[in-house]
Formats: sequence, structure tokens, C-alpha cells
Amino acid sequence: MLQPWVLSLLVVLLPQTWGAEPRPPLMYHLTAVSDPSPGLPSFWATGWLGPQQYLTYSSLRQEADPCGAWVWEDQVSWYWEKETTDLRSKEKLFSEALKTLKMQMNGTFTLQGLLGCELAPDNSSLPTALFALNGEEFMEFNPTTGNWSGEWPETGIVGNLWMKQPEVARQEQEFLLTSCPERLLGHLERGSHNLEWKEPPSMRLKARPGNSGSSVLTCAAFSFFPPELKFRFLRNGLASGSGNCSTGPNGDGSFHAWSLLEVKRGDEHHYQCQVEHEGLPQPLIVDLGFIIQIVCACGRDRSWFIAGGGGHRRRCASVEQNEKRAPRAPWLSLSGDDSGDLLPGGNLPPEAEPQGANAFPATS
Ligand SMILES: *[C@@H]1O[C@H](CO)[C@@H](O)[C@H](O)[C@H]1NC(C)=O
Ligand SMILES: *[C@@H]1O[C@H](CO)[C@@H](O)[C@H](O)[C@H]1NC(C)=O
Ligand SMILES: *[C@@H]1O[C@H](CO)[C@@H](O)[C@H](O)[C@H]1NC(C)=O
Ligand SMILES: *[C@@H]1O[C@H](CO)[C@@H](O)[C@H](O)[C@H]1NC(C)=O
Repeated sequence: MLQPWVLSLLVVLLPQTWGAEPRPPLMYHLTAVSDPSPGLPSFWATGWLGPQQYLTYSSLRQEADPCGAWVWEDQVSWYWEKETTDLRSKEKLFSEALKTLKMQMNGTFTLQGLLGCELAPDNSSLPTALFALNGEEFMEFNPTTGNWSGEWPETGIVGNLWMKQPEVARQEQEFLLTSCPERLLGHLERGSHNLEWKEPPSMRLKARPGNSGSSVLTCAAFSFFPPELKFRFLRNGLASGSGNCSTGPNGDGSFHAWSLLEVKRGDEHHYQCQVEHEGLPQPLIVDLGFIIQIVCACGRDRSWFIAGGGGHRRRCASVEQNEKRAPRAPWLSLSGDDSGDLLPGGNLPPEAEPQGANAFPATS
């Protein structure tokens, strides 16, 4: 998952141990935009323990908050204050960098960071610190030498800006080499059962008019974890294809997904949608117009961040093969369909909206 809503390119190398002995990486995905859309944040971050999101932060709220099952983790009292302090300082750094870039280069910029660590066998940090500009990796930080390097002209602009302030490199070193492995070990000690977290989806099936005499059925699943989920449409009880599926992260650690199927108008009521998910004891079958609410998801701040966190939508097919993998770099592709929902111009598909009414009255 980390998942990688990401089209691109760079794969974070996995430690050989992840799998044998489950010690997931701890990774932060940071994104800052120079020209945010009105009402959207200029900076946001998500924190990931292996495939699971445990943290969310945005410039609108300026607090680091736990996600998913991590809301209930029995953490030391100052833990979230420390995460908040670190992310506020990252927000400041990123915003300074964007201002400087805009001054010197005249454009619109999206600056991203992938920062985090894995644990070596001796519990020391194996750090990752990569940065991308407008979806292209352009810089890395070396925690040993304390400098930023890369081949691009923009690397010089941002790197020099940060290197002018010696405490920035020092903080980054401490973050990567000390805080990160400490936090990771702490989560493994206090919350390792959270890595087994399962939350079943709430479901609905609805229909709307399509092109020339057709209807489009939308089967939607909300707030589930893990992200792997399988859809199937049934017509009079018989399998009728899985439809066109998409999925994406909610901002709270859970996921949503939907699948579209085009059918003959008037035929909608013969259809049902079946969903399979690890959190369900057996496949769930939903009739048109019904909402099945399994459990209320957790999350103390379920905010506007639907499909957020740098949200990339993925095809269902790729969902099935990526559990237990470390995140890829979350570089956003800024083109076409894959633009992150929080980037200027991005928007939430109507199918992902739980409240969306049926466009057809449920008659039969
Ligand atoms: C920046 O772009 C604006 C608008 O396109 C233009 O008027 C201005 O001259 C540009 N400035 C520089 C330094 O390129
Ligand atoms: C690493 O941390 C784990 C979990 O806290 C602990 O059980 C183990 O002894 C540590 N290993 C070393 C080499 O310190
Ligand atoms: C980064 O560190 C290396 C090794 O200390 C040094 O040679 C190099 O000049 C540094 N780069 C910058 C841009 O300061
Ligand atoms: C599903 O995808 C196919 C191929 O991209 C497209 O032709 C079709 O219109 C899509 N169906 C729906 C209901 O979106």
C-alpha cells in the first residue's frame, strides 16, 4: 500500500527480514504545494508502519493525530506532542523551500519527502530520506554527512537554503537516526497487535442513468482495512463480472473502494453486489439501494481528508498483490487521472461519497 498510490518509480528496498520477522519500516510521506486550492492544506503528512497508516497531519489542523487502530494505542503522554512538533517544523521547512523556489524559478511546485527508517538487526536505524519536486526525485539527505545532494539545479536552491541553517541538518539527523527507530520500536512494543487490525467495509449499491439506455451500478465500500478487497456483481444470483474498480486511502488509515458496472436500463434490480474482505467472516451481498453499515469506524478525526493523504487511486488488481510490502515512494504523478486528490485540480469521485443518494428511486 503504501502503499503506493504511486505511480512511480522508486521502490524502497525492503529489508530481508520483513516477512520472516515482522519489523515493518516507519515512513513519513510529506507533501507541500506552492499553490493550494482554496480550503485545502498547503502541507500534509501521513505516517506509515509498513502497510498501515498510523498518523495524519495537515497544515489546517497542525496536529499529528493517530489513525485507524492506532487511536487506541497506549502511548506515553508526550508521544503525539513530539510527532506534532516534528511535523510542524517539517511544514515550516517545506514552506520556506517552496517560497524560495517560487522566487527563483517562477512556477508552481509540489515538494515531497519520504523520510523514515527500518530497523537493523541491532535495532539501529537504516534511514531513508528522499525528496521529489513535481513528482521527480531530485534530492536526498545523507544523515551521516548531514548534507542534501542531487543533480538538479533545484537541489542547490533547496539544499543550500536548508544547509545555511545548521540546526536543520542536526534535527534531520536526530529525526532519522534517533527518533525514528525509537518510535518504531515503541510501536512494535505497545501496538504490535494493531498490525493485525481488520475493519470490515460498510457497503452500498446504487444506480444512475448511463449513456443511451444504460444504467451504471456503483458498488461502494467504505472504511475498511486492510486495503485488499474483492468486488463481484451478481445478476439473479449469478456472477456477472467485477466491474471497473478503483480504490484509495481515507485520511484515517482505512480505505474506500468502488466498482462500476454498466447494465441495461430497467435491469438494475436484478443485480446485487458481493464483496469479500478479510474483516468479513463471509462474503457480503448487497441489494440495490441498501446500505450495510457493519461497524462505525474509529478515528478521532475523520475530517475532510477523504481520499487524502496524497491519495492515489489504484486499480483493484494491483490491490491484491501488495500486502505486507513496504511503501513505495509516494511521489505524485501530476498528470491526468492520477493527480492526488489534494493537489490543485484534484477532486473526489462522486462514487467515493458515502452520502451520495441514489439517482434512481428504488422501484421494482
Ligand atoms: C514569472 O512569470 C510571470 C508570469 O508568467 C512573468 O510576468 C514574469 O516576468 C516571470 N518572472 C521571471 C523572473 O521569470
Ligand atoms: C531490539 O529490540 C527488541 C524489541 O525491543 C529487543 O527484544 C531486542 O533485544 C533488541 N535487540 C538488540 C540487539 O538490542
Ligand atoms: C556533502 O558532504 C560531502 C562529504 O562531507 C562533501 O564533500 C560535499 O561537499 C557536501 N556537499 C555539499 C553540497 O555541501
Ligand atoms: C469500464 O471500463 C471500460 C474500459 O475502460 C469502459 O469502456 C467502460 O465504459 C467502463 N464502464 C463503466 C461503467 O465505467
